[in-house]
Amino acid sequence: MQKTASPKTYRVKSFGCQMNVYDGERMAEMLAEKGITEAPEGEDADLVVLNTCHIREKAAEKVYSDIGRLTKGKTQKKAPMIAVAGCVAQAEGEEIMARAPAVSMVVGPQAYHRLPGMIDDAVAGKRSTDTDMPADAKFAALPKRRKSAPSAFLTIQEGCDKFCTYCVVPYTRGAEISRPYSALVDEAKKLVEAGAKEITLLGQNVSAWTGEDDRGRKLGMAGLIRELAKDPDLKRIRYTTSHPADMDDELIDTHGEVGKLMPYLHLPVQSGNDRVLKAMNRSHTAESYLRLLERFRAARPDLALSGDFIVGFPGETDAEFEDTLKVVDQVRYAQAYSFKYSPRPGTPAATMENQIEPQVMDERLQRLQAALRRDQQAFNEASIGKTCEVLVERRGKLDGQWLGKSPWLQSVHFTGDAEIGDLIEVKLIQAGQNSLAGEIVA
Ligand code: SAH
Ligand code: SF4
Ligand code: F3S
Repeated sequence: MQKTASPKTYRVKSFGCQMNVYDGERMAEMLAEKGITEAPEGEDADLVVLNTCHIREKAAEKVYSDIGRLTKGKTQKKAPMIAVAGCVAQAEGEEIMARAPAVSMVVGPQAYHRLPGMIDDAVAGKRSTDTDMPADAKFAALPKRRKSAPSAFLTIQEGCDKFCTYCVVPYTRGAEISRPYSALVDEAKKLVEAGAKEITLLGQNVSAWTGEDDRGRKLGMAGLIRELAKDPDLKRIRYTTSHPADMDDELIDTHGEVGKLMPYLHLPVQSGNDRVLKAMNRSHTAESYLRLLERFRAARPDLALSGDFIVGFPGETDAEFEDTLKVVDQVRYAQAYSFKYSPRPGTPAATMENQIEPQVMDERLQRLQAALRRDQQAFNEASIGKTCEVLVERRGKLDGQWLGKSPWLQSVHFTGDAEIGDLIEVKLIQAGQNSLAGEIVA
C-alpha cells in the first residue's frame, strides 16, 4: 500500500443492530478527537468506515460490493481510505484483507478504540487488522460523550453466552461482559448533559447485565434502571434486547414502579414450537414465554410487546410453523421483526439436515408477516383517542410538522409549536400501519 495524505473528513456507515449504531457514534467521536470531521451530506469523505453486520443473508457480499462501489467512483468521486469494522470484520477479517486490496484496515467490534493508530499506519502505507477481543478494554479508551440526540443509546452489556444454534453473535461479539456500574452512571450523566432526554440501554442480552454499586452491593439491570431514573433531566428509559431466560421478578416489578421506564418490551421468542426451540438451543418453551409475558402485563397493563421470529429453521414442519402463528395470535404484538432462517458459517444449525426450501420459507414469512401487520395496525388503532407525551426527534416533511415517539415506541407526527428534544402532550387521532397522527393538547 502507498503512503497517503492524512484523512480530513470521514463517513461512518453502520448496518445491523442498535449496538452497531452506538459503536458507529463512538468511532465518530474518536475520529473527531483526532481532528477528522464528518463529511457533509453528498460530499466525498477521505475516510469511509463500513460498520458491518453478519447476522443474516449475504452480509459479507454486501461489504464487498460496497467496497467496489467506493473504489470505482460510484459512491463518491474519489476513492477514500476504507476501514471495515463491525461483525463481518470480526468474522472474516483475514479474508477481507486478502480479497479487497482497497481496504486499509479491518477492525473488530471490541478493538475499534485502536482505529486512530490504524489510520496513522494507513497514512504511512501499512495495512492493519485488529480483531482482538479484550473484554471491556475499549470503553475505557474511548473519548467522553460530547453531543447527543434527544434519544441516545448506551451499551451496558456486550457479547453473548447463549449460543442459539443459528446465531453468529457469540462468535462476532465474544463472551458476555457487563460494563461497570460507575462507568454507566457517568456515561448516562454525560449523555443527559449533552441533550439526551431518553436513554436506551443496549446489550445483546441486556438483562443479563450485573454490577455493583458504590457500596459494593450486587445489582441487576432493574437496580441500574432505578438509579438512572433518579436523574431529573432524564425523562425516559428503555432497554433492548432481552432473552427470556434473564428476566427476573425485580425487573418485572420495575416496569410497574418506575414511571420513566417506558411501557415497551422487546422479547424475542423466535419460534412457537418447543421442538424447534430446543433445536435452536433456546432455553424457553412457548408456554414459559407466554407465562412470562403475562407477568409483565400484570405489572404494566399498557405494555407494548415486540419480538423476533425466525421461519424455516432446519427441519421446521408446517405444523411446527403453525405453532408460531398461534403464539402471535395469543400475544398480539404491537410490532415485531421476522426473518427467514439464514445459515451462518460456523454455527451448528448451518450443517443440520433438512434445510428448508426457499419457497417454503417465503410462504411462511408472508403468512407470519400478514399476522404481525394485522396486530400492529390493531394496536395503533386502539391508541386513537389516547393522550400521551411524544419525544420530538426531528422535523417532518411538511411545514411545521414534527416527528417523535410515543411511550409505546410508535412513530407520531403532528404540527404546531415544538422543538427537537421537547416532550409534547399529544392526542393520537389517526392510525396507520407504521405511524400515527396526533394533535397538540392545548
Ligand atoms: N440477542 C437478541 C437478538 C440477536 S440478533 C436475542 O437473542 O434475542 C437479532 C435477531 O436476528 C434474532 O432475534 C433473530 O430473530 C435473528 N437472527 C439471528 N440469527 C439469524 C439467522 N441465522 N437467520 C435468521 N435470523 C436470525
Ligand atoms: Fe444470538 Fe441467541 Fe445470543 Fe440472541 S441469545 S445474540 S439470538 S445467540
Ligand atoms: Fe449484526 Fe453484529 Fe449486531 S451481526 S445484529 S451488527 S451484533
